[in-house]
Amino acid sequence: MLVTNGGKQAVYEAFQTVVDEGDDVLLPAPYWTTYPEAIRLAGGNPIEVFAGADQEYKVTPEQLEAAYTENTKALLFCSPSNPTGSVYSDEETKAVGEWAASKGIFVISDEIYQHLTYDGVEFTSIAQAAPELHDHLILLNGVAKTYAMTGWRVGWMVGPKDVIKAAANLQSHLSSNVNNVAQRAALAALNGPMDQVSAMREAFDRRRRVIVDGLNAIDGVVCPTPTGAFYAYPDVTALLGREFDGVTPQTSAELAEMILERAEVAVVPGEAFGPSGYLRLSYALGDDDLAEGLSRLQKVLGAK
Ligand SMILES: Cc1ncc(COP(=O)(O)O)c(C=O)c1O
Repeated sequence: MLVTNGGKQAVYEAFQTVVDEGDDVLLPAPYWTTYPEAIRLAGGNPIEVFAGADQEYKVTPEQLEAAYTENTKALLFCSPSNPTGSVYSDEETKAVGEWAASKGIFVISDEIYQHLTYDGVEFTSIAQAAPELHDHLILLNGVAKTYAMTGWRVGWMVGPKDVIKAAANLQSHLSSNVNNVAQRAALAALNGPMDQVSAMREAFDRRRRVIVDGLNAIDGVVCPTPTGAFYAYPDVTALLGREFDGVTPQTSAELAEMILERAEVAVVPGEAFGPSGYLRLSYALGDDDLAEGLSRLQKVLGAK
């Protein structure tokens, strides 16, 4: 195991370690914005495999198989997902893990949202679901989400000895160890009681229902119910090409800009995470701000 300066450094070092110039990395889309950049920084090519709202944004082994070539070196797996909030079930995780193991490729599994699941949905680590991956599996994690400790910059990666050794060598010349005060704080969080985490998860759960209901009340918005993380990822393709008081957004980037100007609500367009036609909204904010934001969105976009 290697302790890193946040989950982000673990993501970077995982790709630096296993990806060589010209390798392909399968990247389920919508994806977190950092992944394709970290893959390119390692000299790899991100190969997007898209799953839409109809699949709850979860890719299948069949889709991965269709995108697989002899240049495929690794698969990025993120459940619960940023940006979609989707959580792969036990069976789905197993199916993806077994497929990857059958190909002998690396799986880089980002588990940073593992404690934030809702509706009784349980997080399954791909390490448990597909033990045969063992020699080709790198797990990434950190304290930023579970303990709301983003600024402490503590993450970690777990994986095969040679991979961890190579990543540690790289890090020793890059940033060396994580500062000891932050490591002590992270240890206290990891070994401490989980009651604060449960309280936070309950608040997220409440806000999650509010945001999904509020978004689905807008004419043309389809928002699957996310069961993890703290994001809603509505499909807004039906709003594109529609006129809103003199403005006709053709892309989700244009729609996001119109929303920012007219509602003064910041949403991230799908273009940041893959194809256009989607928005990412975070519900990690206070109940009152959330209600106010949703009512402004409904005013600008039109309730059903
Ligand atoms: C999926 C995912 N992985 C990793 C990170 C990195 O978090 P940090 O570097 O703050 O630990 C984030 C942060 O947004 C994330 O959403």
